[in-house]
Amino acid sequence: MNELRLRPRRLRQSRIVRDLVAETRLHPDGLIQPYFVLPGAGIREELSGMPGILRESPDRLVESVEADLSLGLNRIMLFGVPEAKNAKASGAVDPQGTVPKAIRLIKDAFGKDVFVACDVCLCAYTDSGHCGVMNDGRVANDESLPILAEMARVSAAAGADCVAPSDMMDGRVGVIRDTLDAHGFTDTIILAYTAKYASAYYGPFREAAESAPGEGDRRPDQMDFRNRLEARREVDLDEMEGADIVMVKPALAYLDVISEVRAATELPVAAYNVSGEYASAKLLAREGLAPERDLVVENLTAITRAGASIILTYHLRDILRHRWL
Ligand code: PBG
Ligand code: ZN
Repeated sequence: MNELRLRPRRLRQSRIVRDLVAETRLHPDGLIQPYFVLPGAGIREELSGMPGILRESPDRLVESVEADLSLGLNRIMLFGVPEAKNAKASGAVDPQGTVPKAIRLIKDAFGKDVFVACDVCLCAYTDSGHCGVMNDGRVANDESLPILAEMARVSAAAGADCVAPSDMMDGRVGVIRDTLDAHGFTDTIILAYTAKYASAYYGPFREAAESAPGEGDRRPDQMDFRNRLEARREVDLDEMEGADIVMVKPALAYLDVISEVRAATELPVAAYNVSGEYASAKLLAREGLAPERDLVVENLTAITRAGASIILTYHLRDILRHRWL
């Protein structure tokens, strides 16, 4: 007679049984691939800090989107790399700018077959490198709002399905919603960077987008990583202001925040598996210290288990190309 009736190992005995009882299922439909758009034509370069990730001019980017569509990758997020920066961030609101141009080319070619989101933030366009315009050596929250709203409107007018404010200015979601609605863009989705922490994991991105702050850091502008309740407060505000999707960023060091946010709202919760997280997995794999597929699937499953149903990840193209899921 066996004393041991309760044996959790029973449900781990084979692949089929493990798959049957799995609590979390990762599906590529919830993943979004970021792209970097360069001014000019005929340009495609690989980023040294982010192996496999490109910066391309709009004409080349459309070719990449076409190749990605054939892999089943039809959800993209665009980040602009501007040619000129100034105090007013005027490049951010130029309808002839690089990102609106790329959106129009993509939408002309593929229409509703691709979901195009684009970043709304001033840091790539300000000479200071800060996410808002400056006044007296400080980021001026209220003066930045109309510029952010205009940036969102220009993107929507170019055909973006979704705008993603990543600046963390107070009140920006409400001003963007009002501006979009006033111009008839009532269907444009707002994916808000709701809980965006001041993080060292953005390092490779800042090189990619040429958006590092010249002086100072983003600690007055982004959340302090010692705080979790503050994320709930940001969720309440973004929800009241009209966000359609709320996002936590970065993801892996913030799984508790993702689960906190999941519990605090009925909205879809996204997480950003950021550049430093991507580069860490790539470097471990490149050094032969762990298989890349296993790292990527473990990371993205953990983010899903924590409560995110949408993940922005640079790994998506590899996942589809190698059929990792
Ligand atoms: C800019 C922005 C950043 C990222 C997305 N939008 C960098 C920052 O805030 O400095 C980081 C994304 C990544 O690291 O992959 N507001
Ligand atoms: Zn920014």
